[in-house]
Amino acid sequence: MAKTKTTWFCQNCGAQHAKWQGQCSSCKEWNTLVEEVVQKQDKASWDQGSKESTLSRKRTPTPQLISQIDARENPRLDTTNTEFNRVLGGGLVPGSVSLLGGEPGIGKSTLLLQVCLNLPFKTLYVSGEESAQQIKMRADRIKKEVKDCYILTETKTQNIFRQIGEVEPDVVIIDSIQTLQTDHIESSPGSVSQIRECTSELIKFAKETATPVLLIGHITKDGHIAGPKILEHMVDTVLQFEGDRNHTYRILRALKNRFGSTHEIGIYEMLGHGLREVVNPSEILISQRGNPLSGTAIAATMEGMRPLMIEVQALVSTAVYGTPQRSATGYNLKRLNMILAVLEKRAGFKLGQKDVFLNITGGITVDDPAIDLAVVAAILSSNFDLEISSQHCFSAEVGLGGEIRPVSRMEQRVNEVSKLGFEKIFIAPASQNFKNKGTEILAFSKIEELVKYLFS
Ligand code: TYD
Ligand code: MG
Repeated sequence: MAKTKTTWFCQNCGAQHAKWQGQCSSCKEWNTLVEEVVQKQDKASWDQGSKESTLSRKRTPTPQLISQIDARENPRLDTTNTEFNRVLGGGLVPGSVSLLGGEPGIGKSTLLLQVCLNLPFKTLYVSGEESAQQIKMRADRIKKEVKDCYILTETKTQNIFRQIGEVEPDVVIIDSIQTLQTDHIESSPGSVSQIRECTSELIKFAKETATPVLLIGHITKDGHIAGPKILEHMVDTVLQFEGDRNHTYRILRALKNRFGSTHEIGIYEMLGHGLREVVNPSEILISQRGNPLSGTAIAATMEGMRPLMIEVQALVSTAVYGTPQRSATGYNLKRLNMILAVLEKRAGFKLGQKDVFLNITGGITVDDPAIDLAVVAAILSSNFDLEISSQHCFSAEVGLGGEIRPVSRMEQRVNEVSKLGFEKIFIAPASQNFKNKGTEILAFSKIEELVKYLFS
């Protein structure tokens, strides 16, 4: 096999170097040199050893009039996993390459194996991380009877493509992209150039055979997908699987989606026999709706396009040390500090000498600003040691002036709240009347007014 020619490029200035060196001699940046292929073998590697039938599926692209392109030609593949379909925007698009990232142990392999086992097509699950026996043991936990699912433990892309040519799967899953290795590059698996080259080979394969490919990607300490940033640009869809490893709920989010919206989320619960789809997310909270405790308030938030009821817990206690402690789990700490400053300045609460701890239950992280009002209510409830009824919920943003501000999709939130049988919802003054069954809607424009109503 003819050797591929590689050189080293500086990621900062683009200068080319014959061999690796610590510092780029052109821009003087350190550690920016990356090995890249400049000349490949003539044939794409996935062609090698593949059968005629795979090749015949290949089309030579010619320019087409956009009005004459039939988009329905490629209907989406239903994965039979409603939450997964939803996040993808309605199913797997043929020829698409999706990347699933997430912390170690969060359940990436479990999710894709489960999708793979339930697909009504021929699937190939390529693992470079686990042995076939380990995958089988996992599969046994998830599903008993499976027909058309092939497992391959291999890390060399050339061999993977050869096996793909033999099996001719309809969907290919790679666990994980960081373990793959191509013969074209000498660097070790997981290096920037290996990841990029393997991904581009897989993308080429996916596009030319219209086979959807799902990749699992590791993430780095700071939460980015390990490898070059360009990886995320190359693939069609970037999904993120997140959640607290100590809790059972997991959220699947699309960070990038060329074929659908990135607003949708999928919620799963990790059980002993795999992941359960949580079709009605408000049940996460409902099961725990018992006697009210002080320091607890319920927020009507939106995760993507779906309403989600979330319990906020706060603990306010006298500071033992000079500097009061502030800690937030599942909520932005800076925003908590802002809310405490607003309460101090606009509502006269001396929280400066108090430790404040905030926790969003269920291990979920919330970005929706509508949770602010529930945070305020929970903090004050703990501060006064007066409980808020578990039949009350909150949905509004809090501004720097202590004003209560409206949030988006109020109608949907109110609908959900009344469906779940809450007695009252506290919101910002709205220009619109929300029709609902039996929930009283209370609008306040200032925090002071709400405090007076709740705690006096
Ligand atoms: P895994 O999919 O291996 O994580 P990743 O690929 O993201 O590193 O998930 C591992 C965790 O999931 C492990 O801690 C055990 C748990 N798990 C269950 O709770 N139930 C199950 O049915 C399976 C298969 C795994
Ligand atoms: Mg894994």
